Amino acid sequence: MNPFLIQPDKSENARKDNWNNICVKPCVKEETAPYTRVRMILMNGTEFETVQFLHRFSRMCTNNELRRELSLLRRNAQIRQKRLAALKPENENLLEHTIGYEQLAVDLTAILAKREKNTYVKKQFDFALLEDFDHLYRYADLMELEKQGDPAKLVGDYTEIMPGRPTIAEQRHPYDDVKFYINHYLSDLNTRLNVNIITAAEQQTMNYYMNVGNFYATPLGRRMFTEIAMIEEQHVTGYGGLKDPSATWLENLVMNAYTSCFLYESCRNDETDERIAEIYTRHLSDCIADLAKCALLLEKYEGKVWQQLFPEGGDLPELIAFRSQKDYVRNVLKTVRLTAVEEGFEELALVPDDFRYFAYNKRIAGNPDSVATHIAVRETIRTYGKDYRLEDKPHPVTELASRTEDNISVGREKSA
Ligand SMILES: [Fe+2]
Ligand SMILES: [Fe+2]
Repeated sequence: MNPFLIQPDKSENARKDNWNNICVKPCVKEETAPYTRVRMILMNGTEFETVQFLHRFSRMCTNNELRRELSLLRRNAQIRQKRLAALKPENENLLEHTIGYEQLAVDLTAILAKREKNTYVKKQFDFALLEDFDHLYRYADLMELEKQGDPAKLVGDYTEIMPGRPTIAEQRHPYDDVKFYINHYLSDLNTRLNVNIITAAEQQTMNYYMNVGNFYATPLGRRMFTEIAMIEEQHVTGYGGLKDPSATWLENLVMNAYTSCFLYESCRNDETDERIAEIYTRHLSDCIADLAKCALLLEKYEGKVWQQLFPEGGDLPELIAFRSQKDYVRNVLKTVRLTAVEEGFEELALVPDDFRYFAYNKRIAGNPDSVATHIAVRETIRTYGKDYRLEDKPHPVTELASRTEDNISVGREKSA
């Protein structure tokens, strides 16, 4: 499918949006399939990115004729985001919703990493994957400890829940999050899509924690959200840093609209809930119309045609589909001792003793016994005799296999 070649209905009334079809009925929590929940979060994040991008673009733009067009595009994206937001199950609590965010982070990152041909970009994906994987485990333990829900029911049989790179080890100096960026014109279309998709998804997670972390009811949970929120800041710096900063606002505008078309087409094909699949189909046709508008703006204001940005011709590449990524994640777990060193990644054991990571990590953690993301697991062990995890077989990293002892050394101490 080539979204540039589909003739959209250009009339403003074509959309027929009104409160009735925007404020749709929420999903029923007990009947929502894990990957249906995950896809809803993904598409919500995609629309978030479009809205935020268009606001920033508008504030940097001196031409009101163009700003009116951006306002219209932004309103369209807001309407789609509101419809997706309305789908969230009414009785889903904060922690249940959070488990959905981290499951998305794990499985989406794995899906994109597997299709990524640029080995440098793939390294960043695999690196952050193990951190979100650990977040999922620690939130699941908090959920078990505070009886906030059933992690197994939420993630289904798709995703294992066990330690990744221990969250205490993830806190690193901001200088080491900044990555080399790709070339927008020379990179493979899949690479450009992957970077765009994951940056939006992680950005949404970062924003979510910024907004809701202090809504959690218990002091332990509030501290956990704070610690993990800082890692999402690191992830957004890492992923966002891969995007080509020399691409113009209008080039990015076209690429974002194209990314939305790719994701809606993927999700509508993948969706098992008919009602939600229909919403994705409706949003896809809206996005195709928006993409046509974005391409016109690129031509009018920069004198470029969309074909210059899509030398492959504009056909959507192979779609993504949510399938279990357990084997892939287990394989990546072998790299759990990597740390970030400037633009690269290094085995922690090979990093000099005076490298800034150690001082930063030590300072922010203070007494390691007071780190909430680890207290949650220790308390679960103390209460139930073992941690909460969902493993098909023993953990592939021996040091992380114990269910009666929480590890705070792997990836943080050179000898561990
Ligand atoms: Fe995370
Ligand atoms: Fe993340």
